[in-house]
Amino acid sequence: MSTPLLSVRDLHVSFKTEDGVVRAVDRLSFDLDRGRTLGIVGESGSGKSVTNLTVLGLHNPMFTTVEGEILLDGQELTTARESELEKLRGNKVAMIFQDPLTALSPYYTVGRQIAEPYMKHNGATKKDAWERAVEMLGKVGIPNPRQRAKDYPHQFSGGMRQRAMIAMALICDPDLLIADEPTTALDVTVQAQILDLLKDLQREFGSGIIFITHDLGVIADMADDIMVMYAGSAVERGTTAQVLRSPRHPYTWGLLNSMPRLDSDTGVRLSPILGTPPSLLTPPSGCRFHPRCAFADRVAGAGRCTTERPPPATDRASACHLTADQKRTIFIEEIKPRLG
Ligand SMILES: Nc1ncnc2c1ncn2[C@@H]1O[C@H](COP(=O)(O)OP(=O)(O)OP(=O)(O)O)[C@@H](O)[C@H]1O
Ligand code: SF4
Ligand SMILES: [Mg+2]
Repeated sequence: MSTPLLSVRDLHVSFKTEDGVVRAVDRLSFDLDRGRTLGIVGESGSGKSVTNLTVLGLHNPMFTTVEGEILLDGQELTTARESELEKLRGNKVAMIFQDPLTALSPYYTVGRQIAEPYMKHNGATKKDAWERAVEMLGKVGIPNPRQRAKDYPHQFSGGMRQRAMIAMALICDPDLLIADEPTTALDVTVQAQILDLLKDLQREFGSGIIFITHDLGVIADMADDIMVMYAGSAVERGTTAQVLRSPRHPYTWGLLNSMPRLDSDTGVRLSPILGTPPSLLTPPSGCRFHPRCAFADRVAGAGRCTTERPPPATDRASACHLTADQKRTIFIEEIKPRLG
């Protein structure tokens, strides 16, 4: 077996704040292979962005503690020097954000900003880098790219800026692309175009993609594998079909139940998950989901969910004390009929 492109092992990320230590990511492990897309889902504050910013080394070391391993192509990143991370960012690893204006400066032309990482990492001349930027703008579907490369970001529409950011992220042909809610701000038609574009570019460049979104419909369309996060940990992992068709964690059941039906365009929301996400300053004891879980009383051993933390999710074994048989039966008899 070849080594995965990205291997995250027992990652812990915590922030020192005035109120105490925020444990944003807690004993998280996952792998990503080349050419595959891992979708990460979970409520707001579950640690999706922190996980990925940590992979890129974009945290303030003064206030952040990172423990565990992040191996990119076998290279350990948690102990890498800033100068080494600098070499990787935009080159081997690139990121697309929700808001392109966080990545694009208003003061330089779009073409110049796309060309910059290519000059920096490939030692290309200004002229060659400009040519490559124009080519990339064409690839991401900007009409008349030679002319448009001379525009400033404010002269682009939202969808075009998103495309420009994708061009910038892909110009160095990164092995790993992290897309953090890249289409949330766009209308449905433009969103569909951008997603198609990402799929085409992945086919061409073979990058591994981490795709973060709140939208299970988008995940179903984009991801090969899914990791469901709750309060900084993975509660369930599996292929997209496995997680969406036979989910094995009570939180995933709630998540599916709270989303608009994947096959319906009415956008009707079913029942939201009761309660609120837990405080990461003082996380609940035992299973972190127990204050919101409707199945804790089915676990053998009274009060086990409030005292004993389930082991981390591994391949298809979700982080929950229910037995595999219970999970299967509850899903088929009680959850699935509600999902329709
Ligand atoms: N620099 C920081 N200092 C303190 N706490 C932080 C910091 N950055 C993030 N957090 C906390 O870490 C937790 C995880 O945040 P994160 O941004 O990863 O959530 P998320 O899953 O990406 O949510 P969303 O879906 O809203 O983007 C949150 O509780 C957040 O408040
Ligand atoms: S371990 Fe207990 S509280 Fe946690 S998800 Fe499973 S049943 Fe619910
Ligand atoms: Mg986020």
